[in-house]
Amino acid sequence: MTDLDLITTAQELVAERKGILAADESTGTITRRFSAVGVESTPETRRDYRQMLFTTPRIETFLSGVILYDETIRQSTTDGVLLRDVLVGKGIIPGIKVDMGTTELANFPGEVVTEGLDGLRERLAEYRDMGARFCKWRAVIRIGDGTPTRGNLVANAHAMARYAALCQEMGLMPIVEPEVLMDGDHTLERCERVTTATLHHTFEQLFEQRVLLEGMLLKPNMVVPGKGSLEDMDPTAVAEATLRTLQRTVPAAVPGVVFLSGGQTPEQATMNLNAMNQMGEAPWELTFSFARALQGPAMEAWSGKAENVQIAQELFYQRAQLASAAREGEYSETMERATTRLSG
Ligand code: 13P
Repeated sequence: MTDLDLITTAQELVAERKGILAADESTGTITRRFSAVGVESTPETRRDYRQMLFTTPRIETFLSGVILYDETIRQSTTDGVLLRDVLVGKGIIPGIKVDMGTTELANFPGEVVTEGLDGLRERLAEYRDMGARFCKWRAVIRIGDGTPTRGNLVANAHAMARYAALCQEMGLMPIVEPEVLMDGDHTLERCERVTTATLHHTFEQLFEQRVLLEGMLLKPNMVVPGKGSLEDMDPTAVAEATLRTLQRTVPAAVPGVVFLSGGQTPEQATMNLNAMNQMGEAPWELTFSFARALQGPAMEAWSGKAENVQIAQELFYQRAQLASAAREGEYSETMERATTRLSG
C-alpha cells in the first residue's frame, strides 16, 4: 500500500456523478431511527434493512462507496453472501466507521470529544483484511452559550489527526468528519464562524500529524442556520457561506469534500449541494456522503416489511439519483417534483 493507493481511493470516491452512502449508524442511532418508523431493532432487522439498500438495482450508478458499521461489515445477506461482497461486486468501495462515539470532555461542561484511538491500529488491520479501503471518524461540535471553546475544538481536531495518520499508515483512506451540529437557534452567520474555527483547527492538527492531504477526504457540515432559528434555509446563502468557509480553511490539495446532511430534509440537502456545484470554481470535488438525506424516504416506506422492499429501493434509488444530479449542479425543482409524483 502506497501513497498512490490512498490518493486513488480518495479520487475514486469523488468520481464524476458519484457520492457516498453513509450507512454506518451505530446500533443506538439506527435503533432510534427504526423506532420512529415502528421497526424493532435486532441484528436481523438491521441486516434486512441494509441488504435492501445495498441490493438496490443499479444503485452503483450513483454510489462510489458505502460507509459501514462494525456489525454490518461482518454480516451476510439472507442468501449467505457477505454484505461487503455485495458492494464490491457492484464496484462500490466498502468503508468503515472506526470512532467509538463521543464522551463528555473533562473540564468542558456541555462539550464532547470523540473516543476510539486506543487499539485503533489493530482494529484497522482487521478491517483492512476484511476489504475495507477507507474509514470515517466523526467529531461532534455543539453550538451553545459560550461553546464551542478553543480547548474543545483542539481536542477534537487532535484526535481526528491521530486517527487520520494511523489510517494512512495502514493504507486506509481517512474521511475526516468534524460536524458542527444544526441543533440550536443560532444564525447562519454563527454557524459560519464556528465552522471556520473548527476547520482551521482541524487542518492545523492534520498538518502537525503529517497527514497526506491528497490521500484524505473532508466530510463537513454545510453552513446553515440552526434548526430552531427563524432564518429561512436559502440555498444561495448556504452555498455562498459554505464555499467561503471552505475556501478560507481547506487546502486545495484535498481532493474532495463529501458533505453530511445533518438533519436537513433530503430536498434541502440536495438543493444546497446543487447550489454549491452551480457556483463552480471550487478547487475540490463537492459531493455527498449523506445518511438521512438518502435513506429517509426509503426507511419510512420499508417499515420492516418484506413486501415493501421494492418501493423502498425505488425511493432510495431516486434520492441517490437526485443527489448525483446535485453533485453536477444539474438538480432542479422540476426533477424533484417529477420524482415525488412517481413515488406518491
Ligand atoms: P447524515 O447525512 O444523516 O447527517 O449522516 C451522515 C453521517 O455520516 C453522520 O456521521
